[in-house]
Amino acid sequence: MLQIENVTKQFKNGFIALEDANIQIDTGEIVSLVGTSGRGKSSLLRLVAGLDVPTTGRVAIANKTINSPHSAAGIIFQEPRLMPWLTVKQNVEFGLEHLSPTEKTRLSATTLERVGLAQFARALPRQLSGGMAQRVAIARALVTNPAILLLDEPFSALDAVTRIKLQEHLLQIWAYDRPTMLLVTHDIEEAVVLSDRIIVMRGNPGHIYQEHTIDLPRPRKRTDLNFQRWKEQLLNALDLSEDKPVEDRNAAIRI
Ligand SMILES: Nc1ncnc2c1ncn2[C@@H]1O[C@H](COP(=O)(O)OP(=O)(O)O)[C@@H](O)[C@H]1O
Ligand SMILES: [Mg+2]
Repeated sequence: MLQIENVTKQFKNGFIALEDANIQIDTGEIVSLVGTSGRGKSSLLRLVAGLDVPTTGRVAIANKTINSPHSAAGIIFQEPRLMPWLTVKQNVEFGLEHLSPTEKTRLSATTLERVGLAQFARALPRQLSGGMAQRVAIARALVTNPAILLLDEPFSALDAVTRIKLQEHLLQIWAYDRPTMLLVTHDIEEAVVLSDRIIVMRGNPGHIYQEHTIDLPRPRKRTDLNFQRWKEQLLNALDLSEDKPVEDRNAAIRI
């Protein structure tokens, strides 16, 4: 279980990116954070990964406070961040330097199999499509068998068809051993197709505005009426006017 308790993050320059966030995530749950840019979503993910520390409040995994990088969580960013001079296999094995070569090979092979890239173990990143490269990044995060997967807009740089394929693929990966997943996305459809729960972040400083439990049965059909209703409801909750400069926002309010 992942606990985010009264977490505020203020940066050194005084800017408050996140204010008083409270989220409890059960083991195996898929939770999405949605919101326009600058709402503190990535900041929150970095706190869970232990890449940064809260100014006040606490992040804990199974009641153990997180304040430095740890192996309970694997993180996947928008761009795959692969090392171009290493093969796919070597990229996946990068975080396993403490293991024997045989064990590394065993783990990378099974993980590449899971993401459907077993035949590309010896390829270099430049030989891969964007979607394949992102699957390597997923394999690299999965290979240490983390209890929690953190995904920061993982598919937003990909074309629409690849994005849908990878969303389905992520659900298959999840079904295998059901890691807890905390996903940041501004793609509402992605959030609805994947999540048990969706947390809407808004405002400046960013804070939790709403929380929705998505009661749609799985597998979810994007064309279903109820699916469309959820999309509409969440889109309304985002308040896109917040993304505009203050003058525009006031103009929008006057209209
Ligand atoms: N290290 C930092 N120092 C100062 N401000 C930061 C820092 N990191 C992020 N911010 C600011 O905090 C706000 C929230 O950022 P972020 O968490 O990246 O938002 P999101 O992921 O929701 O778009 C933004 O306005 C951003 O400019
Ligand atoms: Mg972000």
